[in-house]
Amino acid sequence: MTAGPWETAADLVVVGSGVAGLTAALAARRAGLRVVVVTKDAPDAGSTRWAQGGIAVVLGDGVSERAGDSVAAHLADTLAAGGGLVDPAAAGAILAAGPAAVADLRGEGAVFDGPPGALARTREGGHSALRVVHAGGDATGAEVERALLAATRRAELVVLPGHAASAVLTGPDGAVEGLEVRDEEGRAGVLAAPAVLLATGGVGALYETTTNPAVATADGWALALRAGASLADVEFVQFHPTALYVGADGKGRAPLVTEALRGEGAVLRDTSGHSVTAGVHPLGDLAPRDVVAAAITRRLGELGAEHVWLDATGVPDVAARFPTVAAACAAIGVDLARDPIPVRPAAHYACGGVVTDTHGRTGVPGLWAAGEVARTGLHGANRLASNSLLEGLVMGRRAADDVARALAGPRRLAAPTLPTSVPLPVADRAALQAAMTRGAAIGRDAAGLAAASDAVEAASTLRVPRTRADVEDAALTLAAHALLAAAGSRTETRGCHVRADHPLTDDHWQRASATVVVEGERLHVGTTDARHGGAA
Ligand code: SIN
Repeated sequence: MTAGPWETAADLVVVGSGVAGLTAALAARRAGLRVVVVTKDAPDAGSTRWAQGGIAVVLGDGVSERAGDSVAAHLADTLAAGGGLVDPAAAGAILAAGPAAVADLRGEGAVFDGPPGALARTREGGHSALRVVHAGGDATGAEVERALLAATRRAELVVLPGHAASAVLTGPDGAVEGLEVRDEEGRAGVLAAPAVLLATGGVGALYETTTNPAVATADGWALALRAGASLADVEFVQFHPTALYVGADGKGRAPLVTEALRGEGAVLRDTSGHSVTAGVHPLGDLAPRDVVAAAITRRLGELGAEHVWLDATGVPDVAARFPTVAAACAAIGVDLARDPIPVRPAAHYACGGVVTDTHGRTGVPGLWAAGEVARTGLHGANRLASNSLLEGLVMGRRAADDVARALAGPRRLAAPTLPTSVPLPVADRAALQAAMTRGAAIGRDAAGLAAASDAVEAASTLRVPRTRADVEDAALTLAAHALLAAAGSRTETRGCHVRADHPLTDDHWQRASATVVVEGERLHVGTTDARHGGAA
């Protein structure tokens, strides 16, 4: 399907082929729906494959319970990490569905470390118990992606690689009628469908250095905003404390150095040999991620250093237990069994995103979202480590079930056509990334956020995005403005949102959310007081 313009029909179009997208597509197929999965690159090019630590889940197999763990304890840790902004009802529902979701994944062939009846568990920052199950040592995401893609082939799902989603098509009543896509030559086509599920992943490409692969260009935020959905909590971009430092000019994807290393005994030291987190948090190096990343950033500033050290030399069999990290370290001449690892924070995970309920429904009829692109209320101001693969599994399934229920009723016949091409602001990517890195990383203030917004605007030209790069850059441009506006409006420090000019946490913002929508040609940031009203 490369000659355009062309048109094809389905019940559900899933945009993205990571954990949430493939889980949803498989469940929808089992429910008898005609499903097309669209992905702009190769099916395994998204963030899922790069996830290391594992899946946080209380399996209910007796092992966790005997060790004193429970879903209630997992929820308590999630609430504590989330800085007061986690929706307890949504989080409770998602975490409780974890064991069944992991069982389904194992049913599709995913193999985890440890004996099948008593899987191995590790710990990461913010967790009060060993509850992170893993695969291939530190290659959990690769195993999840492998198993889901194999299941996709067995189910004979239609997967359309090399097609960038450029617009969600809606009818005169605002309901979804399909998706506009661009092939690798920039030709447009239409997938007519009454349901579209966004599972496009993250936004790491907003920054110069990120643990995300290059495809994480905020596509879903832009598609949703332009279709009339709202975003919330987008100011909370989580920086992973320990991305491998590969040199002063190292931009783009920085290899992740999993937090599970600290869970198994590795320690953080600054370049003077002192602990980075002593006196900062009772959990020390295993404090929630926002706390550790902010502590490292402060210490780098104090010392004028480029990186801190992660010393994993005391972790038993470290290279065998963490083969992915060992390989990344070896590539820069570091032997993690003998040498400390140079690390520094890098953009890692979008805690906010497209507002959905716990069935993945957005405010736009026919539009669902699941996985990192969505904001269910599970993460609040800072995601608990390894809750993301779990959320993708649970919410992919729940969204597919909801689509199947919605499509079981009477359907409206729609025949979307290619929309008239509208010019959009498209910023130069390097200029945008430099502006966001300078003004909207850890440690922001009003002047820096405004300067970043001006710089993104100055780097933008109006044009019709036809190529994949232009579609991505238009998405990054809109996403940058959304993030900067939300970050500017939240005049406090909370979780991943650290404001140098508002260093304290403000109770007013405990229940308020900066919600971003597109009104006409402009972004509008509203403040809602009913943060926790959306979960069903
Ligand atoms: C890690 O392995 O440190 C990352 C896991 C996550 O982002 O949840």
